[in-house]
Amino acid sequence: MIGKGGCPEQASAKICMRVLVITGAGVSAESGIPTFRGKDGYWRNLDPTKLATPEAFARDPNLVWNWYCERRRRIGRAQPNPAHQAIANLALQADEFLLVTQNVDDLHVRAGLPPEKMVQIHGDIFMTRCSRCEFRRYEHEQEQDGASLPKCPDCGALMRPGVVWFGEQLDLRKIGEVENFVTGGDCDLVIVAGTSALFGYIIDWALRARGQAGQLIEVNPEETSLSQFATRSFREPAGVALPRVVDELLSNGSA
Ligand code: OAD
Repeated sequence: MIGKGGCPEQASAKICMRVLVITGAGVSAESGIPTFRGKDGYWRNLDPTKLATPEAFARDPNLVWNWYCERRRRIGRAQPNPAHQAIANLALQADEFLLVTQNVDDLHVRAGLPPEKMVQIHGDIFMTRCSRCEFRRYEHEQEQDGASLPKCPDCGALMRPGVVWFGEQLDLRKIGEVENFVTGGDCDLVIVAGTSALFGYIIDWALRARGQAGQLIEVNPEETSLSQFATRSFREPAGVALPRVVDELLSNGSA
């Protein structure tokens, strides 16, 4: 057992570390889910203003709904990869842990990550919610096969995917969960994997969470605006680097 920062030695294999992991589309790339901005990424071939904005949904709800149904089906067929498994393993072993994922897929949880240790900051593609009232329900992609655009059973308005679109606010409750963790004590380790880190809040959380002394590890084949702050960078696919990083952590207690 790794004792760190005065943490008492325990018989279990737990590592006494406070860990924040932030993931993006690159972590699901090896499961066959396209990224957004990478080669073959969604936004290379499709216009986000036509598919991922409230205006797009108002203009052509069927087009938007069908695109999300197609993505649900693709995710439903995909399997978690070694990166998801390594993160789930770390979550189970770390003393304090939070995953903030920008991914709307369910692959982290299917790899064994306890849902209460994860915040899906851009929403959940398997959530369907009313575009007007608070009604929402969780559905599996199989139930959506061939389904037409549903209406809210409470108010009759169109239902929409429970994801955050461009121009929309993040869920305040989810921001609160992340802020609680970030302000609850410096992290020994922050891992940022598979994201282009284009959103200011992603960089802000990563830097604030690591505090003065924590490690910041970036896993991404390409450089990002976060790279300059990383204490270690792995320019490899997440499915290759993360199992090694986590194994190293679990056997040495440090990355
Ligand atoms: P992006 O598509 O912007 O970035 C994916 C990142 O993953 C890139 O930096 C790639 O270099 C990296 N990458 C590709 N393959 C990888 C692999 N096998 N292992 C590790 N890294 C790999 O995706 P995000 O950063 O997640 O928002 O994008 C952020 C948000 O922008 C998304 O959540 C989505 C999008 O518009 C909403 O839908 C609100």
